[in-house]
Amino acid sequence: MAMVVNGNELSRELKAGLKDRIDALRMAGKRTPCLAVILVGENPASLSYVKGKEKACASLGMDNRMFHLKENTTQEELEHMIRKCNEDPDIDGILVQLPLPKGLDEFSAIMCIDPSKDVDGLHPINVGRLYLNNPGFAPCTPLGVMEVLKKMHCDPAGRRAVVVGRSKLVGTPVARLLQNANATVTVCHSQTHDLKYICREADILIAAVGKPKFITEDYIKEGAYVVDVGVNRLSNGHLCGDVDFEGVQAHCTAITPVPGGVGPMTITMLLMNTMKAYEEREARHGTR
Ligand code: GUN
Repeated sequence: MAMVVNGNELSRELKAGLKDRIDALRMAGKRTPCLAVILVGENPASLSYVKGKEKACASLGMDNRMFHLKENTTQEELEHMIRKCNEDPDIDGILVQLPLPKGLDEFSAIMCIDPSKDVDGLHPINVGRLYLNNPGFAPCTPLGVMEVLKKMHCDPAGRRAVVVGRSKLVGTPVARLLQNANATVTVCHSQTHDLKYICREADILIAAVGKPKFITEDYIKEGAYVVDVGVNRLSNGHLCGDVDFEGVQAHCTAITPVPGGVGPMTITMLLMNTMKAYEEREARHGTR
């Protein structure tokens, strides 16, 4: 019987630990961590993600500054706002919600974020640090995948890991985290030949393709650890992952469901990154 990792439960455990640390800071009369979220425009999905982040901060007693800029904000106005957050000594983490409205340059905006406050792990300095295995900030969903593997009691060292998908936010960084954890990593994508054969070699299979139930049992090595990062909305309105959970479950050691697997881990890892940013700033500047 496969172990099914419940991401909601794992998130609750990690958040409870964070809340204790924040409570202890408050009791000691110290400054507490603060996350700034910059949202431009009215994209409904982004509005909902940002609300989720605010709620998560509030549930831990983590400070949260929300900057909601109008749809027709200029690049200069957005970058001015980011710089103000960079300079604000009370802000530890900065997240610019993506995608930005048409006409705004995401790369240029991300380049403005102080890398020591880049809790999304998207600034090229942090991307480079991840590449060099030099501690910085890694993106939150890939960090969530690594926490899930820990929960599965799966040490990647020496194992063969296959990542299906090479996106900037998930596939590429998760492959690097796995390599930094001493796995032997293969990254597959839409042009990969013999995908099924490669997946069947995987001790650890990470599915991040964006195709509902694409990974069926014939892609699975018996006893593999399977992490499903896919979130696909079906025509009946239900959410489903990239893995055919029912078919695959019987063949693996551990697996994540969708919904309720990796999804809830993303915000939790954002909060963990914000705590890390806080601790590193305090270590540099001293507690006020
Ligand atoms: N939009 C969807 N996912 C993400 C994310 O991980 N970070 C940011 N900044 N925006 C997103």
